[in-house]
Amino acid sequence: MYQPGKVQAYLTSISERHSPVEDALKRNIFKYGLWLLAIPAIIYGAVDRGVAAFSSPVLDVTDISYCLIGLVILLGWICIGLAEDRPAVTSMEETKQIKSAIAPASDYIAQQTYRLPFPYLCQVYHLLNVQHLEDIHRFSLGNLKVVKVSDFQKTQEGGKIRFETMLDSPFNVLRLWRNPVVEVELTIHSPHQIELKVPAYGQKFISVLFNVVPLNAEEHHLSIQMFSNLAWPKELLKAVLIVASSLTLLEDLPYLNHLARRNYGRLFSQASEKRRSSQAMQLFHRYAELYNDSWKYRQLQLLDY
Ligand SMILES: [Fe+2]
Repeated sequence: MYQPGKVQAYLTSISERHSPVEDALKRNIFKYGLWLLAIPAIIYGAVDRGVAAFSSPVLDVTDISYCLIGLVILLGWICIGLAEDRPAVTSMEETKQIKSAIAPASDYIAQQTYRLPFPYLCQVYHLLNVQHLEDIHRFSLGNLKVVKVSDFQKTQEGGKIRFETMLDSPFNVLRLWRNPVVEVELTIHSPHQIELKVPAYGQKFISVLFNVVPLNAEEHHLSIQMFSNLAWPKELLKAVLIVASSLTLLEDLPYLNHLARRNYGRLFSQASEKRRSSQAMQLFHRYAELYNDSWKYRQLQLLDY
């Protein structure tokens, strides 16, 4: 039934200005998604012409040539891949700040960088909150369940938490490369580097390194570097990882916005009070224990600008 109110709300929502980050993430999903979808389409075309060529009593040269053209296009499509996106614009001072905070890495499959309009602490809190995988990423992770926290270790620079995750739907797309129940690792390498490592089939893995650097009191730099030893064509894996990371970050934006609107100074004080009992937040408690003072000091420095 025609509902003018709903139509008006939809038209208003699509005509509203979105943040540049949100637009960039949607563009990534569209661009890389389209590139991925073209691969089965070209394969289908080539196979269809190949079958047609051999199914008639006389070999059809035209169909054979279409099949070969399809295979050449497929090879070129995968080898050429998609151009790297340009990183978010930063000033010389900020570039220096980022370089001094992050250890360089070069063997990643894909990298995405963003300038996000939220305080740095909101990102750290979000990354170390294991439970948000269930709540915020319900769509992209297909109702993934965090079953239990199985291990927690303190290290000099941070700590490591292992938690069991379960894919309870037989149609979950993540089953293509991982078992339904696996132990995921979340590690604090430094105040600016947090790693999420997910085991795939066999001894393979996918790991995501989040580099988070404050730019000022209201913004931070986020670079997401993705690594894997899966034996997939590199361009194909890169496109899949970029679509997945863009979708998850798109889901995270409202949550980060919600955290930014809270009194985020309280996030640390909560760590020492009522939420200390939560196992899923143990790594954040460790972060607060190690870097609480340096965080406050950094905030004061930023407010001096
Ligand atoms: Fe998230």
